[in-house]
Amino acid sequence: MPVKKFPFSGFSSVAIHAGHEADPNYAHLTPIYASSTYVFDEAEQGMRRFSGEEKGYIYGRWGNPTITETEEKIAALESFGIAGETGNPIELKAILHASGMAALSTLVIGTLKAGDKILTHYSLYGGTQELFEKVLPPLGIEAIIVDLRDLHAAANAMKAASNIKMLYLETPANPTIQCVDIEELTLLAKANNLIVAVDNTFATPYLQQPFQYGVDYVFHSTTKFLNGHGTAIGGVLLGKDLAHMNGHITKVHRLLGGNSNPFDAFLLTQGMKTLEVRMERHCHNAMEVAGFLEQHPAVSKVNYLGLASHPDHYTATKQMRHPGAMLSFEMKDGLEAAKNFIDKLQMCIRAVSLGTCDTLISHPASMTHYSVPKEKREQYGITDGLIRMSVGIENVQDIIMDLEQALK
Ligand SMILES: Cc1ncc(COP(=O)(O)O)c(C=O)c1O
Repeated sequence: MPVKKFPFSGFSSVAIHAGHEADPNYAHLTPIYASSTYVFDEAEQGMRRFSGEEKGYIYGRWGNPTITETEEKIAALESFGIAGETGNPIELKAILHASGMAALSTLVIGTLKAGDKILTHYSLYGGTQELFEKVLPPLGIEAIIVDLRDLHAAANAMKAASNIKMLYLETPANPTIQCVDIEELTLLAKANNLIVAVDNTFATPYLQQPFQYGVDYVFHSTTKFLNGHGTAIGGVLLGKDLAHMNGHITKVHRLLGGNSNPFDAFLLTQGMKTLEVRMERHCHNAMEVAGFLEQHPAVSKVNYLGLASHPDHYTATKQMRHPGAMLSFEMKDGLEAAKNFIDKLQMCIRAVSLGTCDTLISHPASMTHYSVPKEKREQYGITDGLIRMSVGIENVQDIIMDLEQALK
């Protein structure tokens, strides 16, 4: 049984091999361990496992070999090529969850308490925004929302409000594809003793590695590009303070019960193996699609980080390998035109979510951001004519042909 402990030099080699342990039955892939509990040879062994004296699985909510491989692979990808203060590669701990929202819940409940405040940007995934505005305030945790692309406003907000404990960034962000400067904001946050957490879902570790800038936590909805095929809901929380991750955060994860399961973990592991090749194609296609849309007479505006016209183009260039696969655009004739366009699509899929091989198209105002009040939506640039696209990896000429016929 060969054990792969080779010093991988490339991202895809890590994506394919990291985290894998040779299977005792010589299976090529780590099997789906569909078992809720794990056997002790004798009572003493059970005691040693509970006390932490002996490593080993105990109970499925706490961990599972299929899940461990997935967690180690994600940790290896998020830390790939990043050296710590000592010059050695940084070590991260990843905890897989049932969904992105479960990972976010562990993060906020594991790090904040009543009276604490979160400083964040206004353009966030709708579910995150609702969590911050509806679920956390009754627990005494409040979100302060500022345009974090304005570093002076960010610095002033950190000084003005007492009890800000966390800077929470989502970049690029839903659905106007805004981008905030992770490096500059982390410097400001650290000068003010704040925890920094980044939702890296849209970028993936192939395009952007927030730990490079000294952030404390990264989280993903693995449902999206990491899985890549739309086969499972999932989330992951990663941290660099290993004692804290293995201690308090693991406790919160286990006790809140938002654990993943071996089947979804298996799907995610297989999906991540092709992350680099998928992201290269996604980004190439997105650039072509953005160029096509930008010159189309039915479209008044295209939000794509690869276009020089995007206000955050420079920030994206600074911190992302490529500008990503997400874009949004506004139909000149508003809601009716947006509905007509969506109804006429023949190959692109009418669905929310993102990051699958197939192109997904949705209408944020009536779908992902339906619960955000209209005046706030408009203030955030989520107009009735806005369409969001997760550009897939089909042959780009077919994507463009479908858009062209639907825009007629
Ligand atoms: C950027 C972002 N973060 C978090 C989430 C929540 O993830 P999940 O649906 O896996 O709970 C989503 C879901 O769409 C998302 O787009």
